[in-house]
Amino acid sequence: MPGKEISLAVIQRLPRYYRYLGELLENDVVRISSKELSERMNVTASQIRQDLNNFGGFGQQGYGYNVEYLYTEIGKILGLDKRYSLIIIGAGNLGQALANYTDFERRGFYLKGIFDVNPRLEGISIRGVEIQLMDNLADFVKKNKVHIAALTIPKMKAPQTAKEITDMGIKAIWNFAPVDLNLPSDVIVENVHLAESLMRISYTLKDLEASRDSDGN
Ligand code: NAI
Repeated sequence: MPGKEISLAVIQRLPRYYRYLGELLENDVVRISSKELSERMNVTASQIRQDLNNFGGFGQQGYGYNVEYLYTEIGKILGLDKRYSLIIIGAGNLGQALANYTDFERRGFYLKGIFDVNPRLEGISIRGVEIQLMDNLADFVKKNKVHIAALTIPKMKAPQTAKEITDMGIKAIWNFAPVDLNLPSDVIVENVHLAESLMRISYTLKDLEASRDSDGN
């Protein structure tokens, strides 16, 4: 619904809906009720209805949801019907692992360049994309539209490099370096910190172990 504010909490749940619906589609499921979807996703049916009502529902009483339609609509809401070009800055362990991952293309994210400061990496090809030196980046960005830069460089280097690449006109940073970037508000920064996920596991495990100990197990 144009103009309607959708809460960030709902937006953050959409990729999960998208993933489940994608799996249903792969299994040739044509329609699904909010109850069935809720059982699969382990959330309440009312949450599903509320979330999807934000976008005008897409469901019909007594029929449920048309899986393909819902999948396509959520994809559009997430902007996944578009194509984005992605570059990776820092071709070390993580940068190369990301570059080797093919599923991003399926979601519309196309790897267009990989950059590093290390001359020994120059020219190495990962899935057909050659690692270039950082000196080429400004020229590359002038000649090619770059939507997103993944930052997989040491944290000491990340804030300065992030500033330089946003000055070149890149407006979205997928930041893997464990540091806050503090960029202008018109730059999209998505932080991915696996260590923080591990800390959340640690928190829950700690409680679990403590309750086991107190049960004498
Ligand atoms: P790595 O040392 O294997 O790779 C870093 C690469 O960055 C090297 O190839 C190096 O030459 C390059 N580099 C250094 N300064 C640069 C600059 N100014 N511009 C361009 N390239 C530059 O390190 P690794 O393991 O790949 O980690 C990379 C970053 O990702 C680190 O900040 C690390 O803490 C972080 N990391 C984050 C994770 C997460 O969950 N977000 C998980 C693993 C690593």
